[in-house]
Amino acid sequence: AIYPDRVNSAGVNLDLSASAKPFFDQLNRFKKHSWSAYPLVNGEPSTDAGKIVDVLSPRDHQDIVGKVAWAGKAQAQHAVDVACEAFLTWRRVDVEERARLLEQLADQLETHQAELIAMCTREAGKQLHDGVDEVREAVDFCRYYAAEARKLFHEGAPLPGPTGELNELFVQGRGVFVCISPWNFPLAIFLGQIAAALVTGNTVIAKPAEQTSLIAYRTVELMHQVGFPEAVVQILPGSGKELGAALTSDPRVAGVCFTGSTQTAQHINRSLAARDGAIATLIAETGGQNAMLVDSTALPEQVVKDVLQSAFASAGQRCSALRVLYLQEEIADRVINLLKGAMQELTIGDTWYHHTDIGPVIDQTAQQKLLAHIDEMAKRGKLLAQAPMQDETKLGSYVPPTALEIDHINWLSQEQFGPILHIIRYKKSALGEILSQINATGFGLTLGIHTRNTQLALAIADQVNVGNVYINRNQIGAMVGTQPFGGQGLSGTGPKAGGPRYLTRFITEKTRTNNI
Ligand code: NAD
Ligand code: ALA
Repeated sequence: AIYPDRVNSAGVNLDLSASAKPFFDQLNRFKKHSWSAYPLVNGEPSTDAGKIVDVLSPRDHQDIVGKVAWAGKAQAQHAVDVACEAFLTWRRVDVEERARLLEQLADQLETHQAELIAMCTREAGKQLHDGVDEVREAVDFCRYYAAEARKLFHEGAPLPGPTGELNELFVQGRGVFVCISPWNFPLAIFLGQIAAALVTGNTVIAKPAEQTSLIAYRTVELMHQVGFPEAVVQILPGSGKELGAALTSDPRVAGVCFTGSTQTAQHINRSLAARDGAIATLIAETGGQNAMLVDSTALPEQVVKDVLQSAFASAGQRCSALRVLYLQEEIADRVINLLKGAMQELTIGDTWYHHTDIGPVIDQTAQQKLLAHIDEMAKRGKLLAQAPMQDETKLGSYVPPTALEIDHINWLSQEQFGPILHIIRYKKSALGEILSQINATGFGLTLGIHTRNTQLALAIADQVNVGNVYINRNQIGAMVGTQPFGGQGLSGTGPKAGGPRYLTRFITEKTRTNNI
């Protein structure tokens, strides 16, 4: 093993009654709980910040999960003042102390997992098993980055040089990092960004997605409880367009760690470039137009199982999710028939229940956009199948998992972030052309391949410009340290989250030459 001293979190097994029973007892305590979130600058919550919004659960709009007070420009400026000051001491804190705090936080997350999973389900509409995986991934990021930071921060690594001269290389944090995260991994990505920035000696201002500020705030509370100083990690809930823009245009900010849509990343890139002063670091992980290629040697039953997972799990709200399935014509009808049958067996409904397969999309805006896309593609192409919806789906923002046949990937001008699968048939002789068309989208996140021809699989993996290739399995759910994750081109800057080089973008280096 590359990392013999660290193992990924086991989480809780919901299929075993011995572990599930105590978990569900804990979980049910949070079914009606109400949480709050405020701008938290230097540990002081502001209650007079301005707009206060009710958070409605996407699984049931009658379920009010809590209240969020949004921060404005004044809080943004104050938070940067505090973070700049705190950096002067935090950067000198020994890496061992920073790594130990992250490991204590990982333990704390496991202790509070029932509450955090309840929040994932109620605030973000996630299935329970996705909530379990969310906590596991957050825990893994903490322990993994702690281990990586210890390797990176060896004090004054000596360099070769002439006798009488001591050459040493040091690393340290860059300064104030603004961490801007999406709602679809409201704990794991939110915390993964912050953990990496903090353990490398930066101070952090976290700007969570508007839709999922409650779980973000609760996580920052847990961070302060384990001992991260209040000035070192601050949180500002609020609007991306106003608050996010105020933070990224502040010339004192040394770096931005962003995960979200490609369009927002491009906007932030322009905003950073327009500032006077130091050149900021931008780490941006964004969307995809992810394809899977299935040739005539593939095993249809396995393909269908992996397509269902890749396209519809988490209601298709993963950046890694499958959007375009290419089926070689000899196998296409068989796969489509099996898929239609399997889709009829899916349970679409309330994610509070473990037996639910697919939950809601994040809000009504997303729901309307996705339904309009289905209508448009059904007119232009062909509607192949839609999963049946339970009555309870009327209570929230649900979209039926849908399979459509289309002619060309260029029918899709943007990422459709929901449970919609587009299918294209291809002739074997057109494979080279199809690989070029996938590359021509400019996105480069995940690619799935199903074939029993290993040489072909390796050749395709080499030719398509993506960050993560999955052969003969589903293409979602990258594991920290096992499948370092991130895209190319329009899909991201790298380095990969959960990979051995991620921390290097958060540091700056200093070489000291001493002619003793
Ligand atoms: P989004 O771009 O709308 O928002 C992401 C974050 O950016 C939010 O916190 C938002 O408030 C903030 N923001 C919006 N406008 C801003 C601005 N002008 N300045 C600064 N901040 C601003 O994305 P989303 O809808 O929250 O998330 C879904 C997207 O995230 C999808 O495109 C998905 O593919 C992508 N995603 C990518 C990865 C990855 O690792 N590649 C992982 C998860 C999600
Ligand atoms: N890391 C997440 C996945 O692989 C986005 O699905």
